[in-house]
Amino acid sequence: MRAALEISVIGCGYVGLVTGACLAGIGHRVVCTDNDESKIATLQAGQLPIFEPHLDALVDRSRKAGRLRFTGDVADCINAGEAIFICVGTPPLETGEADLSAIDRVARTIATVAKAPKLVVEKSTVPVQTGQQLKQALAIYGRNSGVTFRVASNPEFLREGTAVGDFLHPDRIVVGVEEAAAERQLREIYRPVLEGGFECPVHAGKCPAGSPSQFLVTTINSAELIKHASNSFLAMKISYANLIADLCERLGANVDEVTRAVGLDPRIGPHFLRPGLGFGGFCLPKDIQAFIHLGEKAGVDFAMLKEAERINKQRVDAFLEKLRRALWVLKEKQIGVLGLAFKPDTDDIRFAPAIELIRRLLAERAQVCAYDPQAIEKTRAVFSEVRYAKDGYEVAEQADALLITTEWKEFRELDWRRIFKSMARPLVLDGRNLLDPARMKEIGFEYHSVGRPD
Ligand SMILES: NC(=O)c1ccc[n+]([C@@H]2O[C@H](COP(=O)([O-])OP(=O)(O)OC[C@H]3O[C@@H](n4cnc5c(N)ncnc54)[C@H](O)[C@@H]3O)[C@@H](O)[C@H]2O)c1
Repeated sequence: MRAALEISVIGCGYVGLVTGACLAGIGHRVVCTDNDESKIATLQAGQLPIFEPHLDALVDRSRKAGRLRFTGDVADCINAGEAIFICVGTPPLETGEADLSAIDRVARTIATVAKAPKLVVEKSTVPVQTGQQLKQALAIYGRNSGVTFRVASNPEFLREGTAVGDFLHPDRIVVGVEEAAAERQLREIYRPVLEGGFECPVHAGKCPAGSPSQFLVTTINSAELIKHASNSFLAMKISYANLIADLCERLGANVDEVTRAVGLDPRIGPHFLRPGLGFGGFCLPKDIQAFIHLGEKAGVDFAMLKEAERINKQRVDAFLEKLRRALWVLKEKQIGVLGLAFKPDTDDIRFAPAIELIRRLLAERAQVCAYDPQAIEKTRAVFSEVRYAKDGYEVAEQADALLITTEWKEFRELDWRRIFKSMARPLVLDGRNLLDPARMKEIGFEYHSVGRPD
């Protein structure tokens, strides 16, 4: 029987909730807190403030087993754990630089309320050298208590939509440490993940045999840099695929055929080579900006990343241009938008291309009707003038154009013949290359996708 460790989690957003629920799910005792009281009230009432597959079952199971609780009392949370995972947001400032004020605030709070030594783990994505600042803040603000702190970086690589599986079956666990004791503590925390044997909510006891997770021990600076370097590389891959798609459109090739063949080269790999409306979400857009900013500050020319970001920002322009070419005038046209979340299987709309697209459509005074399986409530808070449909059929009714902006599986499975009959003009712009052009043409649609012959 493995020893359960006491763990505190600060920040109950996507990363904090998945971290807290998964660490409790593998046997530890976890207390989570957040400074958003309504979030804590929701969690204490047994509900989740976000949609993430398998998370509800995991939270429910761990709470019932007494291994997971939520508290609004930050001191209670901090003093419950021997290790504290900081999972607060690090959003971009106007300059693109990461806003580290939440990390700073949490550091000062930990330093002043902790009554015993703690391992303080940065899980939030932060620029290199944040760990050094964190260490300093803990030492200065905690100087009168006599309590000592160790600091470690443990960047999170989960993807929303598959976050629980990613946390429990990671390719790698990166820990940036300065002392052997911190490494030992983190190895102990992740032992069940590394050795298996926990009740996996994703695979119901039948986890596929894959390559074992790598436990990589680095310096704190390297661990922080690994996260930004990974996300910026992924962003560049997507932008590269989008450039290839532009070329395919102009010169008459099919981007699906090209990227499939390119991705079969093991030096390149097939993932993140999908062209479309570009990357969004709370990671890639802000992390590439923060990395560019960091490079500038360090005197390293990151023009390569700036290009990747510029190409990404152009995706919505290019998509709108296609719509204008087809519809001529957008004012008063009824536009159906299929998909609001930045990717399928999440309700997260932060930096979602669909949100930027709707903003522009409304600015041109188009009438927008939208549907998403999970993200309507969050979008309603942003756009009250949009009409929200109950499903993929209602959004298409009497529409002059239907835009596919998130690749939800259920959109592929819609009865497209029925949709064809219900639209005012059977025009579909597929921003995610979700549908088969030949089939759409056979039904009779005017169909445009990205980098594929119409
Ligand atoms: N979302 C992802 O897919 C993902 C993946 C890997 C890493 N990350 C990184 O993890 C971090 C968190 O991301 P997220 O998506 O969970 O963000 P989020 O905005 O969903 O959650 C952050 C939470 O922290 C809380 N918070 C802020 N200041 C606080 C304070 N002083 N005390 C207590 N709680 C506080 C907020 O109320 C919020 O609930 C970011 O640095 C992000 O870049 C995110």
